[in-house]
Amino acid sequence: MSSSVSAFQPLTSQAITMALCTKTLGRSLHLLQDTPSTNSTAMSLAQNGAPDGTVVVADTQTSGRGRLGRQWYSPPGKNLYCSIILKRAMPPDQVSGWLSWVPLLAAVAVARAIQTLSGLRPSLKWPNDILIAQRKVGGLLCESSGMATANGVVIVGIGLNVNMWRDAFPADLHDLATSLSAEAGRPFDRAVLLAALLSELELRYEAFLSGIADIKQEYGLRCTTIGQRVRVEMSNGDRGNCIEGHAVSIGDDGSLQIMLDDPQDRFTCVTPIAIRAGDVVHLRRKGSD
Ligand code: BTN
Repeated sequence: MSSSVSAFQPLTSQAITMALCTKTLGRSLHLLQDTPSTNSTAMSLAQNGAPDGTVVVADTQTSGRGRLGRQWYSPPGKNLYCSIILKRAMPPDQVSGWLSWVPLLAAVAVARAIQTLSGLRPSLKWPNDILIAQRKVGGLLCESSGMATANGVVIVGIGLNVNMWRDAFPADLHDLATSLSAEAGRPFDRAVLLAALLSELELRYEAFLSGIADIKQEYGLRCTTIGQRVRVEMSNGDRGNCIEGHAVSIGDDGSLQIMLDDPQDRFTCVTPIAIRAGDVVHLRRKGSD
């Protein structure tokens, strides 16, 4: 069956399972017609004993959630909304590194899956916006619970705009969002896409457990925030609510390292500051068009 025929068919467990090549991720699968948020459903399943690697997918979300308290537009029949339960025990001294890197390694996994299936090359806006031609095609919402205990859970929530035409987005997203079909000019099979991104995530999840070097390098190559002038709206309110400067690199803890335009003291003048959470806006460079 050609991809253009199967792309708009309902997402089925059978189609996902047939496409799946993973050892763990997605081997326990909950496919729902609708749910308020796959992240919320996954968290409650995880807290009630669902195993590591369980995946929750929904055809539509009635209260899809984005980062920083935003909503995630989740119409039925078109896109991918999924949440992955990660439960692997971490040594206590690796927990905070793990929490910082999971959103970044998941973003790399999604970008690679898209590239393999479409030939398009997504870039990443720190921390985990997935962009094609500077518009957002997907995003991640990672949530955790009980990480200080032996029963720690991380939920990796992924939203990808797959088979939406540009004019189907609400007006406020017209200039900001895009979809795989809009960029590639053809529809995509959501089951195949989900299977591909779970394979990529599983590989990066395993690689992270033996060190950050590879994932840090791969993330850096895709992250177009590095080298840009940026404004960061801080979620923790440090230094007022907003800073501007040059994004120079990614730290070993996954933070965005920024050289401030307007340092408050001589020390910050020569040392970048580390941003761990916030909303980044890429500013135009002076003289660029
Ligand atoms: C962002 O703001 O960029 C993050 C968007 C994350 C959306 C996904 S859709 C599946 C999962 N369930 C949710 O409620 N949110 C995430």
